[in-house]
Amino acid sequence: MREPRNRVVQVRRFGGPEGLEVVDAPLPTAGRGEVRVRVLASGLEYTDVLIRRHLYPQTMRRRPPFVLGYDVVGESDQLGEGVSGFQLGDRVADMTVLGSNAAYCTLRADRLVRVPAGLDAAEAEAAALILSWTTAYQLLHRAARVQRGQRVLVHGAAGAVGQALLALGKLAGLELWGTARGAYAALIRELGATPIDYQREDFTRVLPGGFDVVFDGIAQDGYRRSFAALKRGGLLCAYGYSAGVQAQRRMLTMLMWIARLYLWRWFPGGRRALFYSINLMRARHPAWFQEDLERLFGLLATGAVQPRVAERISFDEVAEAHRRLEAGGLQGKLVLCPDLPSRRDRLPPEGEAGPTAARATPAA
Ligand SMILES: NC(=O)c1ccc[n+]([C@@H]2O[C@H](COP(=O)([O-])OP(=O)(O)OC[C@H]3O[C@@H](n4cnc5c(N)ncnc54)[C@H](OP(=O)(O)O)[C@@H]3O)[C@@H](O)[C@H]2O)c1
Repeated sequence: MREPRNRVVQVRRFGGPEGLEVVDAPLPTAGRGEVRVRVLASGLEYTDVLIRRHLYPQTMRRRPPFVLGYDVVGESDQLGEGVSGFQLGDRVADMTVLGSNAAYCTLRADRLVRVPAGLDAAEAEAAALILSWTTAYQLLHRAARVQRGQRVLVHGAAGAVGQALLALGKLAGLELWGTARGAYAALIRELGATPIDYQREDFTRVLPGGFDVVFDGIAQDGYRRSFAALKRGGLLCAYGYSAGVQAQRRMLTMLMWIARLYLWRWFPGGRRALFYSINLMRARHPAWFQEDLERLFGLLATGAVQPRVAERISFDEVAEAHRRLEAGGLQGKLVLCPDLPSRRDRLPPEGEAGPTAARATPAA
């Protein structure tokens, strides 16, 4: 039998999407305590844009080439020495940060989360839950510990984490507002929140008493106005800085915005601010990550949550997908599905140089 082929999406140089390439790669072998998976779905995230542009603290030490891929749903196809409790063909998931935008990858068995059997045809939706929805769940229930009836503002509410915050916030009985472009108002309402058009309205004036909690992954003006929108004793949970990335701010500037959050607690009014990181929380509480993702898979299996997948993407559409992530305007996740035939392979062969002639496919 022919050995399966591996392909990966790698960052060849930091910067724009033209620095990405899709290349053939050796099939990895599961080492001790590892499981090799055939990747069924792997998310394409705004966070990948940060990593590609060398603006992501957790991957600052990596030098190209390296393989992208923040999260993965796959099927185990090789078990390394010492692995017990898994069988070939099991469906599993993990948050990898790097390495899973690939046809095959190896994962540590002790970090795997099982994907329930009922989700066999929903691997893209399951993948969409891993980074974006676990972040939202932990922001609500681990960082902010929200209480039913609280008044909560979500920035970037039409985005991947924003939509998840609204959907899970509604399940938690919160009263919700969401900032988004005016064109997304219907989507925000459908998700159970009051839309705020951030291009026309001042969110600090929407609720005169102030919000109990504000979730901000955008950092427009370095989180200042989000803090100003809190009521006395309110909490700002910052978790991203998309506006700083768009404005091409330096990493140091954004790290200073984050550090400053912890000084604001000394202002009168008892308001507090914190920065949430899914990686730091997973490092401190690995069991929480596993528990929270399992709970989300359970909610997906019963239909209680329905993450939006904007499109399933093949390998040769990855660079275009990164452009779309940066341009904004998406209303759902882009998910790499390695089994989708590539665009090149759907085209008729051109003379001698057929689509399989090249080993490296420029991802652009
Ligand atoms: N700390 C963590 O653990 C963690 C985990 C996950 C994600 N993140 C970070 O969180 C941020 C959001 O992630 P995501 O995956 O949800 O990204 P996303 O899908 O790109 O969503 C971001 C949303 O923000 C909107 N937006 C952009 N600029 C805005 C502004 N100035 N005011 C209001 N809304 C604005 C975008 O709208 P348009 O489409 O109109 O541009 C988009 O709907 C990213 O920076 C990501 O890296 C952090």
